[in-house]
Formats: sequence, C-alpha cells, structure tokens
Amino acid sequence: MDRTNSRDRELRDRAAAVIPGGMYGHQSVGLLPDDYPQFFERGEGAHLWDADGNRYLDFMCAYGPNLFGYAHPEIDAAFVRQLEKGDTLTGPTALMVELAEALTGMVTHADWAIFCKNGSDATTMALTTARAHTRRRIVVRAKGAYHGALPWCTPRPAGVIDTDRSHQIFYDYNDVASLEAAVAEAGDDLAAVFAAPFKHDAFIDQSDPTPEYARKARELCDRTGALLVVDEVRAGFRLDRDCSWSRLGVQPDLSSWGKCVANGHPLSILLGNDKARAAAASIYVTGSFWYQAATMAAALETLRLIRETDYLERITALGQRLRDGLAERASAAGFGLRQTGPGVMPLFLFDDDPDLRKGFCWSSEMLSRGVYVHPWHNMFLCAAMTEADIDGALDAAEASFGALKRQVRDLTPVEKLAFLSAGAR
Ligand SMILES: Cc1ncc(COP(=O)(O)O)c(C=O)c1O
Repeated sequence: MDRTNSRDRELRDRAAAVIPGGMYGHQSVGLLPDDYPQFFERGEGAHLWDADGNRYLDFMCAYGPNLFGYAHPEIDAAFVRQLEKGDTLTGPTALMVELAEALTGMVTHADWAIFCKNGSDATTMALTTARAHTRRRIVVRAKGAYHGALPWCTPRPAGVIDTDRSHQIFYDYNDVASLEAAVAEAGDDLAAVFAAPFKHDAFIDQSDPTPEYARKARELCDRTGALLVVDEVRAGFRLDRDCSWSRLGVQPDLSSWGKCVANGHPLSILLGNDKARAAAASIYVTGSFWYQAATMAAALETLRLIRETDYLERITALGQRLRDGLAERASAAGFGLRQTGPGVMPLFLFDDDPDLRKGFCWSSEMLSRGVYVHPWHNMFLCAAMTEADIDGALDAAEASFGALKRQVRDLTPVEKLAFLSAGAR
C-alpha cells in the first residue's frame, strides 16, 4: 500500500507549536514506529482513516472505547436523539436512573452506580470511597498496574510530590505471598486492595489472574474490613457481561468502568455493593459534565447490545481465529511470537527482542498493509470485525513476517549482528 503522510506531518509541525510536546498521553505516537500516524480523520465500524486518508483495520479500538464499531448507527442515533432534547442541563434526566438500574441488573456485585467521565475519575472515587468507608489510608495495589493519570497513580513522576503517592503499598500481580505481605505491612491502616481483571501492563507478557490470587484478595479484604476494587476500565465487558472476576467466583466491593461503556461516548462508572453505599453517599464527587444525558442514552443502547447480542461470543471467536492464525504464520516464518492476554485483548511480543526492534519492524509492515497493531500495548477486538477482516489481517501478518525476515537478511553482517544481538544491550 502506498501511503502518504504529508498532512500528518504538517499537523505535527503545527501541533509542536501549540500543544505541549506536540502530543501528550497514551495517544501520543512518540513511542511508536516513526511511520505511525498521529492524526485521524474518521472511523467507521472496525476501520479508521488517518488525516491523509489512509485506511486501517484498527486493532486498538481507540485504546478500548470502540466495542461495537466506530459510528455505530443505533448507539449514535440514541446519542443524537437525546442531544436534540438536551444534554448538559441543570440536573440529570431520567436516563441516569435507568442506567443505574440497568448496570445493577447486569453486574452481580453492584447495588448502586455513580457516573463520571474518565476512568481516572472512577478509580480515584473507588479509593476515596474505600477510605471513607474504612476511615483508613492505605491502598495496596499491583506493581506496574495502570489505574489512571492523576497524581496518586500516574506512571510518570514529573510534577508529582511524595505526599501525592503516600499510603500506597505494592504487590506482584498473581503472587499470593507478596499480596499477603503488602496487606500485613498495611496493618490496621488498610483501606483498599486494587486489582486489574488480568495483568495487562504495557511492554510485558500479560497473564490471567489465578483463582488463588483472586480468592486471597477477597479473603484478605474480608478479614481486615478493607474494600476490594476491581478496575474494569480497560477490560470491562470484553471478557464477560458481568464483572470479569465473577468468572473466578470472586465479587469485589467496588468496580471502576469506563472506555467502552458508551461505545466511545465519554462515560465512566463506579459500581459498588451495599456495604460501601453509605461511604459512597458521604463523599463529595462531581463534575460539570458528569450528568450529560446524551452519553447516558448512548450507554443504555450499548448495554442493550451487550445484553441482547452475541457480541462477546463473536469477538472471543475472532480473537481465537487471530491467535491461531498468527501462531501458524509466525512459526512458518521462523519467528517466536508470544501472544498473551485474552484473545480479545491480545499483546504480541517477539522472542529475543528486548528492545522491540523486531516488534517495531513487524508493526510498521502491518501498518503499511492497512492493519494498525501496537508493538507493546495490549490491543482490542471489536464486534464490528468480521472473519474476513481477521483473515485479511493474517494475510498482512504473513507478508509482514516475510518482510521482517528479508530486512534481517538484507542487513550487512555488522548490522545483522547488531539487529540480532539487540537483546544483549
Ligand atoms: C485499567 C485502567 N484504569 C484506569 C484507566 C484510566 O482511564 P482514563 O484514561 O479514562 O482516565 C485506564 C486507562 O487506560 C485503564 O486502562
């Protein structure tokens, strides 16, 4: 595919003058291969178009929000209908109550809901609720896990002071002994234990939670009176129609949701059980746009599709088709490709590729064939993808493995040594 990128380059130049760093946060392509576009024009279904009009099958799904397809006709029609009636008003509409009723009907542990805008709002509110409930301070959470971009949890230290980060103790995900040690260290000041649905940290292999770890987290919270929080912001409704730890027979006290709950319209949610209800009612939380009715209309339609369609079974099957097909093609080309995480949220890492050189080359090759993959972050499948899309991506993958092989072969001996021994650095 011949791709132009002149418009993207021009926008980047202009952005450099008026946007700090040219771009910020997780949607900055600064840590992606050079040819990745920074700016996009539109999305439809499983595809998106960059600012130069190049089309991609998008395995990032806006980093999660796209569950049923970009510009979904029914969801967006519900949004527009409500927009015409009223969106940001002096108070909420009946949709807020309906949405809370829908969610408490779907998520086993949930007896109530609070709505907000970003995942960070919901995770922070979970912590505040747990502190209000227990009148204690410490949160025990997994090392390397992402819970948002506010000072207490941002992965970058710039601008953060010690007290923003105080009263946190870290454990290793899935490591029962380290969880027990962290809880013991917190002693009688433990307010909450946080856990992600699965270990979905960037740059490393993903792993499912073991039942022992999930049960131990529940048991430790029961024993100490702390609240158990499952952060579903990224994985919610891609693994289950309920809280994902229901599959392990473990119910949290609180769960934070966001990203796909309104299929791309801005909404996040804190769900909680009756135990935490009084504390949730006692904290002061709000935002100018937290009550927007159009987004809630979109969320109600999204939840209806979650309940009434076979989207979950379809994306699960597509994820398996992708995984099987890729494994076959990678091994035929002689590459060790580790595909970890659930099939609907996969992360791909090449063996012997500690500086991600192979991953970057392969991802660039995929991009040039119209498939947007990520070399070090988990990806997302959406229900607008078809078997033909997956098969097309597999064809692109096969050609990309071939191109990667040729790139290695075409290097001079010295370059080749540098490429292959990148791991030694
Ligand atoms: C697990 C998890 N929690 C919280 C957040 C924060 O969500 P937001 O970026 O909407 O504030 C994210 C965002 O990626 C996330 O993946």
